[in-house]
Amino acid sequence: MRNSPSPRSPVISAKSSPMVRLAAIAAFLAGSAWMAQAGEAQNSEALKRLVHHDCGSCHGLTLKGGLGPDLRPQTLEHYEVDGLAAVILDGIPGTAMPPWRPLITSDTANWIAQYLLKPETK
Ligand code: HEC
Repeated sequence: MRNSPSPRSPVISAKSSPMVRLAAIAAFLAGSAWMAQAGEAQNSEALKRLVHHDCGSCHGLTLKGGLGPDLRPQTLEHYEVDGLAAVILDGIPGTAMPPWRPLITSDTANWIAQYLLKPETK
């Protein structure tokens, strides 16, 4: 017999953290529920998620640009809130920038425009 069994004593930590699992589930639910919630401008966490994930799928998760251009405040400073909300609602015809009007209200577009123009947007 060549295999000499090495006396390992596995230290298995059976501790699972219910808090970690709850947080993961909550994140998942929030992620799938934004469509239903986006109409409510007061739900700012869901909207931030929308901006970073859905706008971010083209504009980069940190909004520094990707397929679509940089959306950071310093880049958008030539926009008024209204103009920016209009771009979000109507998209930019002839480009990959889609109109969001079918998905969000103009209140929500205004919220997003204000959020994008705020210096602390990450
Ligand atoms: C499918 C990809 C895609 C998605 C999703 C997308 N965009 Fe865009 N966006 C673009 C592209 C491409 C452009 C550049 C169009 C052009 O050539 O002028 C653009 C342009 C813009 C501009 C104009 C920027 C400027 O400097 O004038 C704004 C503002 C903007 N997008 C905001 C958003 C917001 C807010 C969202 C999410 C609600 C979003 N976009 C989602 C692709 C996308």
